Amino acid sequence: MGSFIFSFILVFGFLSLVSATIVNHDGRAVTIDGQRRILIAGAIHYPRSTAEMWPDLIQKAKDGGIDTIETYVFWNFHEPQRREYDFNGDKDIIRFLKTIQDAGLYAILRIGPYACAEWNYGGFPVWLHSLPGIELRTDNEIFKNEMQNFTTLIVNMVKEAKLLASQGGPIILTQIENEYGNVMWAYGAKGKNYLQWCVNLANSLNVDIPWIMCQQGNAPQPMINTCNGYYCDAFTPNNPSSPKIWTENWIGWFKSWGERDPHRRAEDVAFAVARFYQRGGTIQNYYMYHGGTNFGRTTGGPYIATSYDYDGFLDEYGNLNQPKWGHLKNLHFIIKSMETVLTYGNIETMNFGNGVEATMYTTNDNSSCFLSNYNQSVDATITFQEKKYFLPAWSVSILPDCDQVVYNTAIVNTQTSVMVKKSNMAENEPEKLNWVWRPEDINDSLKGKGSFTANSLLEQKIATSDASDYLWYMTSVNISKNDPFFNKQVTLRVNTMGHGLYIYFNGELVGSKYATGGKYKFVFEVPIKMKSKTNYITLLSVTVGLKNYGPHFDLEPVGIAGGPVQLIGSGNITKDLSNNAWTYKVGLNGEDTQIYNDFSHQLEWHSDDIPIKRPMTWYKTTFKAPLGLEPVVVDLQGLGKGQAWVNGHHIGRYWPTFMSPSYGCEECDYRGAYGPSRCETNCGEPTQRWYHVPRSYLQTDNNTLILLEEAGGNPTMVNFQTVTIGTVCANVNEGKTLELSCQGGRAISEVQFASFGDPEGTCGSFRKGTCEAVDALLVVQKACVGQASCSVDVSESMLGPSNCDSSISKRLAVQAIC
Ligand code: GAL
Repeated sequence: MGSFIFSFILVFGFLSLVSATIVNHDGRAVTIDGQRRILIAGAIHYPRSTAEMWPDLIQKAKDGGIDTIETYVFWNFHEPQRREYDFNGDKDIIRFLKTIQDAGLYAILRIGPYACAEWNYGGFPVWLHSLPGIELRTDNEIFKNEMQNFTTLIVNMVKEAKLLASQGGPIILTQIENEYGNVMWAYGAKGKNYLQWCVNLANSLNVDIPWIMCQQGNAPQPMINTCNGYYCDAFTPNNPSSPKIWTENWIGWFKSWGERDPHRRAEDVAFAVARFYQRGGTIQNYYMYHGGTNFGRTTGGPYIATSYDYDGFLDEYGNLNQPKWGHLKNLHFIIKSMETVLTYGNIETMNFGNGVEATMYTTNDNSSCFLSNYNQSVDATITFQEKKYFLPAWSVSILPDCDQVVYNTAIVNTQTSVMVKKSNMAENEPEKLNWVWRPEDINDSLKGKGSFTANSLLEQKIATSDASDYLWYMTSVNISKNDPFFNKQVTLRVNTMGHGLYIYFNGELVGSKYATGGKYKFVFEVPIKMKSKTNYITLLSVTVGLKNYGPHFDLEPVGIAGGPVQLIGSGNITKDLSNNAWTYKVGLNGEDTQIYNDFSHQLEWHSDDIPIKRPMTWYKTTFKAPLGLEPVVVDLQGLGKGQAWVNGHHIGRYWPTFMSPSYGCEECDYRGAYGPSRCETNCGEPTQRWYHVPRSYLQTDNNTLILLEEAGGNPTMVNFQTVTIGTVCANVNEGKTLELSCQGGRAISEVQFASFGDPEGTCGSFRKGTCEAVDALLVVQKACVGQASCSVDVSESMLGPSNCDSSISKRLAVQAIC
């Protein structure tokens, strides 16, 4: 028996040993089981999609050459009330990590628990702010206690599920804090103590995998400090034993209400990535691989839009964003194929002047080379190892054998997909939706009835704990007939810290205003006429996402905090109402009664005279899911501002009346250092018109959409659509392969253009050049029409002889319809 137990322990102990992975690092790379690794990671934030979407998103990342998925942990998502936790459904982070594991990928867990991430309050639960004596992100016992409690909880959960690499799980790196180095100066000596405390906390959690701290130039050992930005090739960690890690490669940017859509071209992302690996980088993580959607009230900001598309490799809905996905996929597989030489080889760099540089990695058996031209506008031709190479400006060529160029970051052979929205309506579904409506009952607020009072103007998140966007501030002013204000036109002046304000006076809406131009604090004045006796002043203050970034961002006030609120009469006679008796009410009555959950029709709704442009109105309709499996959006053009729910799921704030500027969308050049305003689209259009409705929220029939229209709008144009590929284009060099594919089971119906020679123009404007192979169109039509995907070798033997002379490097340009 004794020997049985002994062998059992031996075998079991051995099994758990073999399944454990040892993650370590040296100055060159992270090592996994002793081997230096090149890792290519991508961020997918689990709350920005649904649990049903995770496997598909992760698989598409894997197909795109990603080996590691990174996410933050979102504290306020899991601990909405102190010590009340929620890890169910889309909040099931353990399921998310297991999905990564099932796909055979690694994970990077950025616990924070401060995240930033354009997430409400940076991921901090707002209740933290109300704990007496607390100061966030500094050496403060109350904060440290909360942070330690949550961080330990997360570490214990992943340990229990055996998700750490040291337990055989997928998590290879974990992060504490986030970019504290950028703001630490503002916290003085206490900030330095806090930094060391974070390190001690991390060390005490015994995860047996390395910890990282991004943007922390002074990270104490054993923390690895890492780089975030558009380019990190020039980054050097603060310790010779730390490898060069790029935690956030911003491959686009987020969108704000009132702004255009930022994009970053595939050529520039590829350039940045290739330069990073050329210059000794070994791990980089795309921020974001899939940006997704800020559902509910989760956006930070203020004023971050509901879409968090980020121009990621997968669009907001999970479709491949082409050519970015494919162009970078090719790069990933090439970089991975050079893993050994890049992590063990000797590095030699040669400078050719004018921004041109060659790097050779050499081991005993192998050499691989990068040739880069970081000049922004001048192409180069260089002689390298007795061979001539052409290097377009702002590009990197990769030569895995130091002879043949297999990839140049500026030459895109992957298809471009132009996405379209299609109606795809279910049978018998009427063209127009049928609406019912009910008013938000604001009569109590107009009469000054609330739930608590104060003789001051309260800060909004203290008063609401951010339970709602809305806070009512109500007071009354008694005017006698002798009062100089009696029966006079006076000005009501409200100073607010933001973000929006509706003013009601004696039961009437007399004005409303939202902050614009990135300035959230504003003064709003309306003329009113005081009657005798009681005058009711009701101010509805609205927030649009709490600040998530910057030193002491958590202290940034919102609402009419402190005011002042004044009445100003002729001759500047002023009555200051700031210390009046103010009555408060948090949120709307309809939020309390959860009108948005009334899909079984318990409440009374009106079906006649659907009001248009009526503020504070609830609208409801039912609909069938659009056919097929492709992602669904709802077009909310016509509405003003508010929030939307589908079958009780909050799909986010909407604001289609907030337009983006009409200028600034010029043709974009990828060459030269990127910034979010370089490649923008959507000028002069609503910031966001379409809102994602995840398929998993829908049933086939009988779905309910409920809108809370705050500003006033017209729901009659609302409709549901699917998002799919409309047109596909490609521009492929001779010697490569044309690959086209549609999605959602659709086939290529028509090849509108194909020319093999020196065609000109871009997708949507292709035209023939000076020469071509006459049969190319026929060949492409034959291979592609009627197929969901097709591929054609770009060669004369396939496409027929051309009349181009030999100095022309030929390309095949194609445009087709899915
Ligand atoms: C970084 C931050 C991320 C995200 C990003 C911008 O500074 O670490 O969480 O906010 O900026 O998208």
